[in-house]
Amino acid sequence: MTNADAVANAVAAVRARSDLEPRLAVVLGSGLGGVADAVENAAAIGYADLPGFPAPGVEGHAGRLLLGQLSGCSVAVLQGRTHYYESGRSDGMSVPLRTLATLGCDRLLLTNAAGSLHRHMGPGCLMALTDHINFSGRNPLIGPGGSDRFVDMSGAYDAALRDDMRAASGECGVELHEGVYAWFSGPSFETPAEARAARVLGADAVGMSTVPECILARHAGLRVAALSAIVNLAAGLDATALSHEHTVAVMAGVAADAGRLIAAFAARQAG
Ligand code: HPA
Repeated sequence: MTNADAVANAVAAVRARSDLEPRLAVVLGSGLGGVADAVENAAAIGYADLPGFPAPGVEGHAGRLLLGQLSGCSVAVLQGRTHYYESGRSDGMSVPLRTLATLGCDRLLLTNAAGSLHRHMGPGCLMALTDHINFSGRNPLIGPGGSDRFVDMSGAYDAALRDDMRAASGECGVELHEGVYAWFSGPSFETPAEARAARVLGADAVGMSTVPECILARHAGLRVAALSAIVNLAAGLDATALSHEHTVAVMAGVAADAGRLIAAFAARQAG
């Protein structure tokens, strides 16, 4: 099946269950699945019923698409994503993101867990992405395609949406940092030297997701905002051993703040 066919079939599968016209798409990262509980009047569709959507992966995530209302905004929430490190493919979110764009979303909020490159932005902090650095060498648009593959990535993280995040942070009393996110492929964490190099080159946080999704979303014409939940100081900044279990445990503590910020951000997208 081509990607275009998969998108058409996924859109038809969604339309058989919901006629909601979502405006804001949200991708929930590891440990933020609970944000989905705040979506009201939700139609939930398992990824297994949506062609081209990822199979459940390492996180044991729910793997479902929710369509409903969040703070009065019509949203489409992807609860579960696939990562490059799971398959060696960086375009695994192409069909889901195109499907959400075809359903009517014109803006996207990406979320992730990340390691901080600053001691003053430690575990539990939230960071809005201002830009990214792609340290993986991969690009989800590699392959056959037209001239629209040559996507302009300046302003990839939408300034007006970031203004909304900042305003939402003030409204809900959740502090928000801003910075540059560097994508490493994972699944091993960075070495201390790699983390130092990323810092020297202008990054503020490191992680294993989001960048390919941002590229795919810009290719699909979506405006993009992104939020990192800091779950650890990056390798070498701290003696704490890094592990996926640690990420999941710290995310559980950050999730409530992230949920409040996302709800306040969604309210600003309504209407
Ligand atoms: N590095 C990369 N990805 C991560 C980290 C990290 O330190 N923490 C959570 N995800």
